[in-house]
Amino acid sequence: SANDCYLYQGFWYDSLFLERLMSAQDHFIPLSTDIFITSCPKTGTTWLKALTFAICTRSRLSGSSASSLLTKMPHECVPLLEYDLAQNPLKRDCAVPLVSTHVPYSSLPKSIISSCCKMIYICRDAKDAFVSLWYFIADMQRSKNVEPVSLEEAFELFCSGISSYGPYWDHVLGYWRASLEFPEKILFLTYEEMKRDTAAHVKKLAEFMGCSFTAEEEEEGEVQKIVSMCSFEKLSNLEVNKNGMHSLDTSYAVKNSVFFRKGEIGDWENNLTPEMGARLDDIMEQKLKGSGLKLPR
Ligand code: A3P
Repeated sequence: SANDCYLYQGFWYDSLFLERLMSAQDHFIPLSTDIFITSCPKTGTTWLKALTFAICTRSRLSGSSASSLLTKMPHECVPLLEYDLAQNPLKRDCAVPLVSTHVPYSSLPKSIISSCCKMIYICRDAKDAFVSLWYFIADMQRSKNVEPVSLEEAFELFCSGISSYGPYWDHVLGYWRASLEFPEKILFLTYEEMKRDTAAHVKKLAEFMGCSFTAEEEEEGEVQKIVSMCSFEKLSNLEVNKNGMHSLDTSYAVKNSVFFRKGEIGDWENNLTPEMGARLDDIMEQKLKGSGLKLPR
């Protein structure tokens, strides 16, 4: 809700995360092996976490316990910088070199920027990201017995840059520019491209993370196994993701199922009028002008 939102260093935050972000900015020290999963909310973070987790733990997971992904929600497998690691940076499973964050590039702790840690950024068509965010927020509000914000009102706010970790375009541009400056450090992905050829992206991710698939693994279908294990159909039907809860705090508790809504490209068409779609497209085009970035639709 807008009443619990704060503008900090040019971006909008929920109070729950802002306080901890400020603490992380002062105290967080990455491990040299850390890989950061970065995104604006609702752009495919959960999926990217599942894929990267499956990729970098695959040798250990192919054994007896097929995977923690079957019993744990992807958010439980990868800690969130501005929540889990803000206060006690040492309390983490160092065997999994993944940390996630929604913090915009310009507000990341300096220790991360100056490290040689790699980052993977995922973004998505703004219309789909907005619609996904609206459902998410409305769901959270309903669970707190708060009257959900209307789609129209949320859309106006989003278009004026007011959304969780928004302005959306500034979030995208921050990581985009950084990825141009440090291409070996930052891998810039889109939800749409990852959806269209997930297997190619699983290989690309593995390569970028420094754990490429061997010829033998490829022959054994390891890439396809990970694609299937992390598919929307598979993850959304797991007991933990259907009925489990994701609660960080008394003020923040949502059903895991809320992170698995539809998993499709273009669902905005079922929710926004063509005029609203065109308006947001125009805004994005204006904002991204001259950056060299063109988001797929
Ligand atoms: P929709 O609301 O459009 O369905 P995030 O993880 O960043 O919060 O993003 C959530 C969006 O990713 C939701 O989009 C959700 O359905 C989709 N998603 C979750 N898991 C997915 C998967 N395994 N494959 C594709 N999309 C997925």
